[in-house]
Amino acid sequence: MFDRLLNLFRGRSVRIQGTGKLPEGYARKIDIGDPMAGGKQVVLCRVDGQLHALDVLCPHEGGRIIDGPLMEGRYALCPLHNYKFDPKTGAVQGHMCKNARRYKVLEKDGDAELWV
Ligand code: FES
Repeated sequence: MFDRLLNLFRGRSVRIQGTGKLPEGYARKIDIGDPMAGGKQVVLCRVDGQLHALDVLCPHEGGRIIDGPLMEGRYALCPLHNYKFDPKTGAVQGHMCKNARRYKVLEKDGDAELWV
């Protein structure tokens, strides 16, 4: 009961299976619900062994952060203007831009809990 109440303040919690298979320095895009009907797309990134979650929407000019290998093994890329974002902080590297939106994610036993 208390956990449910806390989740109301944290946002919706979603369980993502198999995140333990995401290798170091890679990103994987996941759909939370139907993106065409109010759902979200999130990019899970593994950096320094930790899982991080970024919204797929780039804060620069509406591009989309892609999955696959991270730039230099640690930065998520929006290929529209090649801006790189640090999944640990959401901060852009070498440009002036708002941070990419981050979501809380906790990984345990090869699966993850994501708050969107
Ligand atoms: S829209 Fe993403 S870098 Fe410009």
